[in-house]
Amino acid sequence: MPQKKTRVNPSALKSKAIEPLKLMSTAHDTKSSHSPLANLEEWEDFLKTRYPAPSLVGTNPDKKQEQFRDYENTARPTVREFYRLNHRHQTFDFVQEKRREFLGLQRRRMSIWEAMEFLNTLIDDSDPDTDLSQMEHLLQTAEQIRKDGHPRWFILTGFIHDLGKILCLFGEPQWAVVGDTFPVGAAYSDKIVFPKFFADNPDSQNPRFTSRLGIYEEGCGLDNVQLSWGHDEYLYHVTKDYLPKEALYMIRYHSFYPWHREGEYSYLLNDQDREMFKWVRAFNPYDLYTKSAERPNFKELRPFYDDLINEYFPPVLKW
Ligand SMILES: [Fe+2]
Ligand SMILES: [Fe+2]
Repeated sequence: MPQKKTRVNPSALKSKAIEPLKLMSTAHDTKSSHSPLANLEEWEDFLKTRYPAPSLVGTNPDKKQEQFRDYENTARPTVREFYRLNHRHQTFDFVQEKRREFLGLQRRRMSIWEAMEFLNTLIDDSDPDTDLSQMEHLLQTAEQIRKDGHPRWFILTGFIHDLGKILCLFGEPQWAVVGDTFPVGAAYSDKIVFPKFFADNPDSQNPRFTSRLGIYEEGCGLDNVQLSWGHDEYLYHVTKDYLPKEALYMIRYHSFYPWHREGEYSYLLNDQDREMFKWVRAFNPYDLYTKSAERPNFKELRPFYDDLINEYFPPVLKW
């Protein structure tokens, strides 16, 4: 199978904050262990197969709920390989290393718009029509939240929730940017997709990490739990001084499907996590089910999002 890779759209490099040279080194990375997916959306499409919209399950007579849930057998080989790498390499030590590497936020100083443009330089070789796909997903998510009459901070959260995917442009492999997140340092839930791939993770042989609680205490709270590394945790740290608690939970845990869709790990939660759960749940349908062929009119929408961004964020943030 030909390797798909992250390609960088040079015309999208409008901002001076963006360094083309660094991007090119990402662009030339063809290691299969780096980019098993044709594009990041393959992971999200897989999530939709696994967690179909309730309306779809009810109305499609050809697909019974069990078939929808037979996701492991029907997953594309690229998706399977993606999860194999993710489960193999997301060790407790790997997560500590990535936290040290990225959470100092010393890489860039960019506005939200610059980060948006930067993210949009991540384009997909397999589909010439998706130049704006990253921003379109964000706009479609935010616009549906807005149509449903939710508060302004909720709309803004929809608009920015995937900006952490710029990690790909810093040269990080796909399996360390996207993927369902899960706690490291404690036993893996068997509700995590492809649980068998954890057999190759060295942590699964380490007695410190294999009990139900592992290194954690009962009810310690998710803030004290290390999740596998990815775009959620990174963006949480970029935005944590500026958004309400509910928004930060949505950003930080939107890929934590074992918790918000499977109900696992209740023994790690504290009262605040239980209280915030409803917001993380409320966000998920907007993330998963708002993709449509209808392209949002970015020019028309821009003033609204300008105001919204200025309401919550300073002109420049640390990334
Ligand atoms: Fe995401
Ligand atoms: Fe998303």
